[in-house]
Amino acid sequence: MITDTHCHITCDELYPHVEEILERAKEAGVDLMMVMCTNKTEYLRALDLKFKHPELLKVAFGFYPGDAQDVTQEDLDFLRHEAMSGRMDVLGEIGLDYYWDTSFKDLQKDLFKKQIELANEANLPISIHMRDASRDTMDLLEQNAKTPVILHCFSGSLPIMEEALKHNMLISFAGPITYKNNKQGPANVAACPADHLLSETDSPYLSPVPHRGHRNEPAFVQATVQKIAAIKELDFEEVNQQIRRNFEALFGDEKSDGNSVDPSASLPPASSQKEQALASIPSFLEQFDPSWKEVIVSEEENAENK
Ligand code: NI
Repeated sequence: MITDTHCHITCDELYPHVEEILERAKEAGVDLMMVMCTNKTEYLRALDLKFKHPELLKVAFGFYPGDAQDVTQEDLDFLRHEAMSGRMDVLGEIGLDYYWDTSFKDLQKDLFKKQIELANEANLPISIHMRDASRDTMDLLEQNAKTPVILHCFSGSLPIMEEALKHNMLISFAGPITYKNNKQGPANVAACPADHLLSETDSPYLSPVPHRGHRNEPAFVQATVQKIAAIKELDFEEVNQQIRRNFEALFGDEKSDGNSVDPSASLPPASSQKEQALASIPSFLEQFDPSWKEVIVSEEENAENK
């Protein structure tokens, strides 16, 4: 019962290998993954996969702060349509990133705020990307977010984490906590209560030790969970169960304990809406030019893969 709450398996780099990647994940005990989509193509691919593997996959879609200059009104209209459709589970990753470029902070903030407001309207949890922009990100979240918040690949300071916890945000840890020179990551894990922890790969990037130097994929998330268990002196299985509870609580998917449920009772409306949304995927995908299935691999990469 291992969970990867953040992986980009429909990006061009991983998508050509996606069925093998899912197979290796299952073999490694990773049986729930959230596919992060940063554009329409990645999203259509993720819906197709979710329809084939509904128990295995959640889908998140949102526009990344680094792309703020390229996101069009048409993109935002598409995101709105999908946020309201029930086909996506989380809105994200969204946020602020001042590491690469600080020349369009206002555009980033504007895009971030619009997407938080959309998540509020659609009642979707949000997944947050925050890099060298903790203060502005936290301010915008505290002023605007009304749905559950995941701080993805958390690498901020302890005071920022404590502030986030005060607002009941979930803290997701990735491969960097396994790196030898990283002191802050393990300190954050130690200080984060187990009921606010999540595990992720952020694949294809940030492979955990001992997989550094290899392209990251969901199967490797177990190395990060092992590190969390070691830091917190908890049993590996116990940590996985806790993370699964923390993650599923976002969607109202917790399994019942079996004591109080009438098996003849009909499904609550939320579940039947989810079923309907899932069933709508094939006809939805048919509206689009099937070029989303194709990955244009450069000759260089092609040579590498041979
Ligand atoms: Ni990501």
